[in-house]
Formats: sequence, C-alpha cells, structure tokens
Amino acid sequence: MLEIRNLHARIAEDGTEIIKGLDLTVNAGEVAAIMGPNGSGKSTLSYILAGREDYEVTQGDILYNGESVLEMDPAERASAGMFLAFQYPMEIPGVATMQFLKVAMNEQRKARGQDELTTPDFIKRVREAAATLNIDMEMLKRPVNVGFSGGEKKRSEILQMKLLEPKLCVLDETDSGLDIDALKIVADGVNALRGPDRAIVVITHYQRLLQYIVPDTVHILSRGQIVKTGDKELAAQLEAQGYAGVIEQAA
Ligand SMILES: Nc1ncnc2c1ncn2[C@@H]1O[C@H](COP(=O)(O)OP(=O)(O)OP(=O)(O)O)[C@@H](O)[C@H]1O
Ligand SMILES: [Mg+2]
Repeated sequence: MLEIRNLHARIAEDGTEIIKGLDLTVNAGEVAAIMGPNGSGKSTLSYILAGREDYEVTQGDILYNGESVLEMDPAERASAGMFLAFQYPMEIPGVATMQFLKVAMNEQRKARGQDELTTPDFIKRVREAAATLNIDMEMLKRPVNVGFSGGEKKRSEILQMKLLEPKLCVLDETDSGLDIDALKIVADGVNALRGPDRAIVVITHYQRLLQYIVPDTVHILSRGQIVKTGDKELAAQLEAQGYAGVIEQAA
C-alpha cells in the first residue's frame, strides 16, 4: 500500500537534507511502528507524506497503491485515503470542530462518489464515535484544537480518523501527553480500525504504546534512514538496550 523508495528530502527554505535514502514498505492489513531517536526525521517523514510544501523531495519516490504521490497536493492525498495525525496538531481558530468534521467527511464522501450526509446522520456518527473515545460533545463545539489539552488534541485526531475511514493512517507520537486511561482508549480506537485493506503506521518512542497496539513490523529510523527492521521483539530489544546499542549493531 505504501512504498517509499530511496527517499531523499530537504527543507525547502535552507536546503538542509533530513531524509537521506529512506526505504520503507507497508502492506495493506499491516500495522508498522517507526521508532527512532529525537531528531532522526520521523516527524519530517510524516510532513513529507502529508505533502507539506516546506519540504522538497530531491530523489526517490513515494508510492501509494502503486502510484507516486509526489505531484499530489495535501487535499488530493487526503481524498485518496491518506490520513496523517501530527505530533503537534494544528489549531484552527474560528472553525468549530463539528463544522470541520462535517466538511472533511463530506469531502471524503464526494471523493468516493457518495452523497452528502444529512445533519442528523452526521451528528449520530460523531456522537457514537466520540462516545467510544470518551470525548465530550461540548468540546467539539469549540474551534479545532484551540485550547484543547495535549491529550484532548490526540483524542480528537483519532476521532477524525475514525470518522474519515482512511486507507493509510500515519500517527506521529499519538501517545505523547496521554494519561494511562486515554492511552488505552486511543489504542482501542486504533485497533478497531485494523483491517485487511487498511495500513497503519505508528510513530512512537515507547514500547508502552506497542503493548496495546501490537505492530506487525518495527522499523528503526536513524539519521534519515531506516537502519533496522524487525517484528515486535525489536521494540522490546530497544527498550532494553536503548537506541544507541541497537543502532550500533545495525551499522
Ligand atoms: N527548519 C529547519 N531547519 C533546520 N533543521 C530542521 C528544521 N526543521 C527540522 N529540522 C531538523 O530535522 C531533524 C529531524 O526532525 P524531526 O522533527 O523529523 O525529528 P523526529 O525524529 O520527529 O524527533 P522527535 O523524536 O524529537 O519528535 C532535526 O534534527 C531537526 O532539528
Ligand atoms: Mg517527531
């Protein structure tokens, strides 16, 4: 479903190369975890997948269902079923979360050739999804992410993901800032989305999240490259040895 081949990318503004020959394949039905030290390029990779203009791909390709997404803008990627939850979710002052969800869901439906949702149907879907994530409907009347606590932002990202039913989900440090109960709720939300025609990429630092969302594959990102790939045991090994030990072995 996702195939990244020899990707090189730099910051558009000053030309600093951050991604340096990254290869990664994630198949449909798979949950892949990406782990790696601070500054290794994990969030940068998520921005590049989303299609942010501040980054330039200088070499290699990103294939989604066999087709390059490099020429697609962020909205086209979203319509095609790609969903990115960022480490630092964006605030959108002046746009109520409910309104935002309605527009996003209807855009997605349009792209799939489905009719717009009626208001009662829309509200019913949101209410059900919010209940499973322990999100108060009152919170959704507020502007997107404005004044939300760290954990509330992460939960609201998972709510969006649930409602949009994307094919490829990339979650950057969804566990950071979550209390233990919220971590379980979010992990349950992600696990509920697992399925044979969906791929989920979870970026995290900690084995803890991966005890709840058990990954099929684990990839270690270091200095802009995937330096080691394994299964869930690799995450356990990291927890025991730290990045330095594992990355040294891979080098
Ligand atoms: N505008 C910029 N100019 C120069 N360097 C930058 C810029 N933006 C990001 N970087 C650098 O790119 C590297 C990769 O950053 P990135 O946020 O992708 O790391 P990360 O793996 O997500 O780290 P963390 O685990 O801390 O979230 C870092 O060294 C960062 O300082
Ligand atoms: Mg990051």
